[in-house]
Amino acid sequence: MSGAAVSVQTLAVTLSGRPILHEISFAATPGEVLAIIGSSGTGKSTLLRTLAGLVSPERGGVDVRNGDERARIAVVFQEPRLLPWLRVAENVAFVMQGPRPARRQRAQAALAAVRLEGCARIWPRQLSGGMAQRTALARALVTSPHLLLLDEPFASVDALTRMELQDHVVELWHQHRFTVVLVTHDIDEALYLADRVLVLGGHPARVQAELDVSMPRPRSRTDPRLLALREPLLHALATPRAVSASGG
Ligand SMILES: Nc1ncnc2c1ncn2[C@@H]1O[C@H](COP(=O)(O)OP(=O)(O)OP(=O)(O)O)[C@@H](O)[C@H]1O
Ligand SMILES: [Mg+2]
Repeated sequence: MSGAAVSVQTLAVTLSGRPILHEISFAATPGEVLAIIGSSGTGKSTLLRTLAGLVSPERGGVDVRNGDERARIAVVFQEPRLLPWLRVAENVAFVMQGPRPARRQRAQAALAAVRLEGCARIWPRQLSGGMAQRTALARALVTSPHLLLLDEPFASVDALTRMELQDHVVELWHQHRFTVVLVTHDIDEALYLADRVLVLGGHPARVQAELDVSMPRPRSRTDPRLLALREPLLHALATPRAVSASGG
């Protein structure tokens, strides 16, 4: 599988007459992992929903491309959004089309990829928060997306589980090389996972800063080069003007 090329050009989004996003432009190359951070209510989810085609731009546009073909896009939201009346494997198979045995087989493989192969027959209410979020990840992966959109997918789990889930994403990225746009509040998560971090801010929101991480994955959370990038990122979050810095 390959990753999608993403291009966002002078994007403006208005919701209920209120400008939310203004003049947003950025691009992601196939297989790139992009993190978007910014304070609450800035418009991060709106941007992700626009990338997913769930929100129509007022001006400008979004282009997500897999070579000459339309790219498959999958979204993992902050809450797992599992259907309580379907078993775990059925929740994963639900998003697929085609004959039932083939769907069941693919669902089982997707669950194995997030190490939940033993949970196929149980109900969502029997899952822990981290397991439910892994199921949501499996449901996203089962469609073999070229672009994976993650909206604070690990915000509601404890710190240890969160690190485990981040490592899952790194592992899956190594296998599939999809393009990722990750929305997060967590600076360390952004630095651990992303090739590039965009800071969104202002009303309406613009891209206020961009930080190049450019380090191979898997990374060490205590790598001094990563830790050194926390400061420019914190500075960019606190200062409403453009700065740029890079790792290397
Ligand atoms: N349907 C809507 N109509 C009007 N305004 C909306 C609508 N949906 C969201 N908004 C507003 O758009 C702004 C951006 O919302 P969004 O959910 O994108 O922010 P966010 O950065 O994801 O915040 P958080 O970090 O809290 O998730 C908010 O001020 C919100 O009130
Ligand atoms: Mg949000």
